[in-house]
Amino acid sequence: MTTTQHRPVRLALLGCGTVGAEVVRLLHDQAADLAARVGAPLEIAGIAVRRAGRDRGGLPVDPALFTTDALGLVKRDDVDVVVEVVGGIEPARGWLVEALRAGKSVVTANKALLAEDGGTLHDAAAEGGADLFYEASVAGAIPLLRPLRESLHGDTITRVTGIVNGTTNFILSAMDATGAGFTEALDEATELGYAEADPTADVEGFDAAAKAAILASLAFHSRVTAADVHREGITEVTAADMASAQAMGCTIKLLCIASRGPDSTGADSVSVRVHPAMIPRSHPLASVGDAFNAVFVEAEAAGQLMFYGRGAGGAPTASAVLGDVVAVARNRLAGVRSASESSYAALPVRPMGEAVTRYHISLDVADRAGVLATVANVFASHGVSIATVRQASAPGGTPGGGDDAILVVVTHAAPDAALAATVEQLRTLDIVRSIASVLRVEGTG
Ligand code: NDP
Ligand code: HSE
Repeated sequence: MTTTQHRPVRLALLGCGTVGAEVVRLLHDQAADLAARVGAPLEIAGIAVRRAGRDRGGLPVDPALFTTDALGLVKRDDVDVVVEVVGGIEPARGWLVEALRAGKSVVTANKALLAEDGGTLHDAAAEGGADLFYEASVAGAIPLLRPLRESLHGDTITRVTGIVNGTTNFILSAMDATGAGFTEALDEATELGYAEADPTADVEGFDAAAKAAILASLAFHSRVTAADVHREGITEVTAADMASAQAMGCTIKLLCIASRGPDSTGADSVSVRVHPAMIPRSHPLASVGDAFNAVFVEAEAAGQLMFYGRGAGGAPTASAVLGDVVAVARNRLAGVRSASESSYAALPVRPMGEAVTRYHISLDVADRAGVLATVANVFASHGVSIATVRQASAPGGTPGGGDDAILVVVTHAAPDAALAATVEQLRTLDIVRSIASVLRVEGTG
């Protein structure tokens, strides 16, 4: 193996939990290979944690390296690279801004911070002439951000569609496979250690929305934040919705969809949304099961590209972190910096009302003459064209034989605002007892 001549590249590791502990392990187990790849050894200068005296389960690292003074560690003169795997907005933002302004390279997995205020980090990186890498922040181990920010920079990306949250994909896959309801599937995800004790960020779509903002920013050369992303979670997806999807040859996935196109005035813009959607079983994302992630990228010259792999977990995420560490360490030795943020396009974000998609609406209606015509008229009055209508018996009843029936309406593509107005008007009708569900249908051409 080639011996290295440079002084070690010194790392400040902020966080030593699920991801940080695996970063430590990989740095130890692969030390010789990493040194050969970088051209200098990678050394841990210190590890900032919340509880310095905590038992770290035989982690191969000197206990004297642990500290609770993260900012003090970041400021040390002997630190070249700051690796942040703590998470959250503050105090992480303060540490990273301090590091970047001082010219120290930063590697972070912090999707929440990047989606909320990535601009501040990029500005600090530009000010300090430092690298800011964050491959692990979206889709764990999958090499995705570097292809977007480097390999596809000669092309025009038009759309990114992804399953970027492993917990919700596990839950929806279980509902699809077993007919379980949401709560039952969430319990299984928790028992198997996929879902966290508080699964809100995952099941309500916040985690996927943060990742969607990061993907859209890179794909469309514009600053997109989590607040720009239309977000719906999966808590209201029922076993009946899944059965209905199956009857249509579909399954339901929590999708992140970022697309570029004209807004209502014809100006170039982006649309970014996260919501559950029915997709045909023939769609490349339909077969992504368990807690896996996959991202489908469409670009003008490249065509369709698919990225697939493990989107979470200590070791897979640490793999992405270490890839970034090697890249920024090499840059430091070469005295160079990678290309800075590309946000020149500064495209505006289209309102959700302008997003065009198909819908599956399930209505509990009175089962009598003229009801179907009245319902159809409401859709027509808002310019929403119906593709199919199916009538099923309400629970406990028979079609045509009881008071209630379930109408399942699938529309052609329509703007979200038109569908929302349709649903609002349907709710006011006496003949509509309830609207059981409204789900978008994607990927049917
Ligand atoms: P954990 O909760 O497992 O670990 C967090 C670590 O940060 C712990 O070591 C904790 O210390 C330390 N910490 C918390 N607060 C402070 C503080 N104020 N000062 C110093 N240290 C602090 O988180 P994860 O490893 O799961 O996640 C880390 C980051 O990686 C997050 O941004 C997350 O979104 C991201 N990520 C995680 C993935 C995963 O699968 N887990 C996948 C992709 C990204 P102590 O050990 O003493 O409690
Ligand atoms: N909670 C996230 C998930 C972790 O389930 O995908 C990876 O970001």
